[in-house]
Amino acid sequence: MPFPQQRLRRTRQSEVWRRMVRETHLRPDAFIYPLFVVPGRGVRRPVESMPGISQLSVDEAVKEARAVSAAGVPAVLLFAAPEEKDARASTAVDPQGLAAQAIAAIKDGCGDLLVWADVCLCGATDHGHCGHVDEGGRIDNDSSIATLAEVALNYARAGADAVAPSDMMDGRVQAIRSLLDREGHSATPIVSYAAKYASSFYGPFREAAESAPAFGDRRSYQMDPANGREAVREVVFDVAEGADLVIVKPAGPYLDIIRRVRHAVTVPVVAYQVSGEFSLIKAAAQRGWIDERAAVLETLTGISRAGADLIISYFAPQVAQWLNA
Ligand code: PBG
Repeated sequence: MPFPQQRLRRTRQSEVWRRMVRETHLRPDAFIYPLFVVPGRGVRRPVESMPGISQLSVDEAVKEARAVSAAGVPAVLLFAAPEEKDARASTAVDPQGLAAQAIAAIKDGCGDLLVWADVCLCGATDHGHCGHVDEGGRIDNDSSIATLAEVALNYARAGADAVAPSDMMDGRVQAIRSLLDREGHSATPIVSYAAKYASSFYGPFREAAESAPAFGDRRSYQMDPANGREAVREVVFDVAEGADLVIVKPAGPYLDIIRRVRHAVTVPVVAYQVSGEFSLIKAAAQRGWIDERAAVLETLTGISRAGADLIISYFAPQVAQWLNA
């Protein structure tokens, strides 16, 4: 009989006891902070749907990178929202393009901060899709992965410490790995958005990255939220193709996926707490409906407990400050 011999409250009776038996610990080194870069100088344009987050010109992004690094966050995930957009995503493969410039400037100004470069076509195409669109309005997989590999090479050459393809085309990890290796970048890791769901929680991000699709949606390449086994196939394939780390995205509504992926592969698992997850907490906190700090730490602890080794979060610098205080 568990009770009355067993009483679980014994090890909950004081903060010292609770600290001693705690199973999950957040650490600043596990966090990656997203940055949104826009053209211009001295630009710091607040993203309305993401309180505290701004679009930054390259010079401001360098300042932000230094502050983030000083707060104890080891890496940023870089997104660019260039002005010039066309059907071929030309600016993403341009060595003078916005993303390449930002990568080089941050590495130059803040050398020990890791720069993970998001690799996708949606920010650089006029149609806003993550791959090339054929005459029938379909997303063409195989021509897309050739371009994505060129984008990844461009970012690796600019100095990116890792490339992170977020497009969800089939075979892009293999295409990127072989081009990087052929061009002398065998040391650049690939962080694959392996299990990325077609989620309603990306809404605020699309304002920040100016990357909403001009027609249709992303359901022919991103995953159906109803599927779990398929996520395991995605990560197993990506690891076989050469992914060094895999991302599950979003995080909070997909804790079961994080757990399954953790058991299915041995590479580090990264969870992405996306813009909508951030904005929900912010909006409720601003109304006084929720304690922001407690809610943030609880969601991140849950993501970590589910099996995430690393977490991409818009709360990263704030959390690092809290943890180091
Ligand atoms: C683009 C991309 C998206 C996010 C990261 N990369 C949006 C999308 O797929 O529409 C979402 C990030 C977030 O919501 O915080 N491929």
